[in-house]
Amino acid sequence: MKLTTSAVALALFASAAGAQEAATPPPSQLETCLSCHGEGGNSNTPLVPSIAGQPEFFITNQLIYMREGVRPTPQMTPFVEKLTDAEIESLARAIAALPAAQSEESIDSGLAARGQKLSEQLRCASCHLPNLHGQEQMPRLAGQRIDYMAAAMKAYRDSQRPGADPMMSNVVVGLSDADIAALAHFAATKDPR
Ligand code: HEC
Ligand code: HEC
Repeated sequence: MKLTTSAVALALFASAAGAQEAATPPPSQLETCLSCHGEGGNSNTPLVPSIAGQPEFFITNQLIYMREGVRPTPQMTPFVEKLTDAEIESLARAIAALPAAQSEESIDSGLAARGQKLSEQLRCASCHLPNLHGQEQMPRLAGQRIDYMAAAMKAYRDSQRPGADPMMSNVVVGLSDADIAALAHFAATKDPR
């Protein structure tokens, strides 16, 4: 009897330690995130970005910026303020591995064509890659929500995104709202997979 109990305790202990090593986020934590960011991390909610398949480094950075108040985002604050570094790392790894899907918003092909030309002139691909999948600290734009991307670019342009990387803000200086809409429509045409 004694032996059985300690064997069970040992098994429980071993599985807890194993879970820690694998650094998988508690499912409930990721579920909370996806309640806003959409099933599988692909958002159907206006102004909430899709996060599935974003570069792990980008997600980690943004979560740390948000936790530290460098990029204050009122909607996110209650969910990030108590995350440990290890939790952020495991969430970022899990989210980066989720398959990205294209936004379901309707795309204006005229705007997208104009956006393609602007994207070439402004060399978006030099950082976000030719397929716009992003890399390192640079987010995936391909298939991202149009409304979110347009709002984000306006925020960079108007110095309304605290903690913004000047690498990005400098690109959108002087663009009109119409230019920004064109770029967002173009990026949404790209396959995120
Ligand atoms: C209440 C809704 C809500 C919840 C819950 C939520 N988020 Fe967010 N999240 C948002 C919104 C809205 C934004 C966009 C903020 C902005 O406009 O700058 C965002 C932005 C982000 C971004 C930046 C994406 C980008 O492309 O810039 C990441 C990464 C992110 N959230 C991850 C998470 C994670 C991980 C969790 C769970 C710990 C989480 N979110 C929980 C609403 C939410
Ligand atoms: C010199 C490198 C560079 C170039 C060129 C560049 N970007 Fe970025 N972009 C970045 C970085 C870095 C970030 C993340 C910035 C941050 O942390 O605030 C970013 C972020 C963004 C975001 C925010 C997305 C999100 O999910 O929050 C959008 C939208 C964006 N870029 C669009 C564009 C477009 C469109 C172009 C071309 C007109 C472009 N970028 C050119 C580096 C660049």
